[in-house]
Amino acid sequence: MTMMNETIKSQLGHRTIRKFKDRKISKDIMDLLLEVTARTATSTGMQAASIIRITDPEVKESVANVCGQAYVATAPELLIFIVDQYRNSQIAKEKGYSPKTARDMDRFIASFTDACLMAQNLVVAAESLGLGTVYLGSILNDIQRICELLSLPDLTFPVLGLALGYPDQDPQLKPRMDMSLRVFENSYQLYDSYLDKIRDYDKEMSSYCDLREPGKYLDSFSDQVVSRFSYASPKENSILKAIRKQGFDTGINKDDQ
Ligand SMILES: Cc1cc2nc3c(=O)[nH]c(=O)nc-3n(C[C@H](O)[C@H](O)[C@H](O)COP(=O)(O)O)c2cc1C
Repeated sequence: MTMMNETIKSQLGHRTIRKFKDRKISKDIMDLLLEVTARTATSTGMQAASIIRITDPEVKESVANVCGQAYVATAPELLIFIVDQYRNSQIAKEKGYSPKTARDMDRFIASFTDACLMAQNLVVAAESLGLGTVYLGSILNDIQRICELLSLPDLTFPVLGLALGYPDQDPQLKPRMDMSLRVFENSYQLYDSYLDKIRDYDKEMSSYCDLREPGKYLDSFSDQVVSRFSYASPKENSILKAIRKQGFDTGINKDDQ
């Protein structure tokens, strides 16, 4: 394909990496990655998302415990992307303006989106340099603990963790469903049977060996869907509750929860 270039080759080769070599990422590389991240598009230009770089081994260990993923403790780099309306609300306060709207969910969602885009921009750049990455949604297993560990102030919220390093494993490309099922023209397309549509994909998924459990092949995609839906997160760790605790106005009556 003539349009193929190094960026796209790298993106098409994306695999999550969960085992890293015992090799540091140089300061120059980290600086460059953070420069790329700073360039990410940002909702209304407000840059209301931040990164906490975890360098203290004890904090890393504690984050790894929350994630339930031991290797996170020894990952060469660990970044936590956060919603950050605190900085701009302080800027406004210093200008003599007390911004009530800083607590709005619209702003929270804009910040959350910014944080995700920054993370993915960094991932694309990191992979292009031969680094491997793993997102850690599992930091949300215990949001309160993460907020305490990172001393997250009012109007901030953890979104995603990201561990980075030089890959020490070579996983298969994880199969994806056909994009005809995920890209629609002009309006959402409904199908009579999705199981029919994903029949081949379902089979293909069962030939994927997840290195988290070597020698074990994954369930079919449809079985994975069912087991994911059968898991309900514990109520005491409700994300909405934690969002409210960090000072955002979820618009939900406190008595409803
Ligand atoms: C928002 C998000 C959160 C994720 N959280 C975790 C996680 O906590 N632990 C983990 O091992 N992988 C995590 N992943 C990685 C996914 O499991 C992985 O991207 C998916 O299985 C597809 O595999 P691939 O990236 O190798 O193609 C996360 C990915 C995303 C996008």
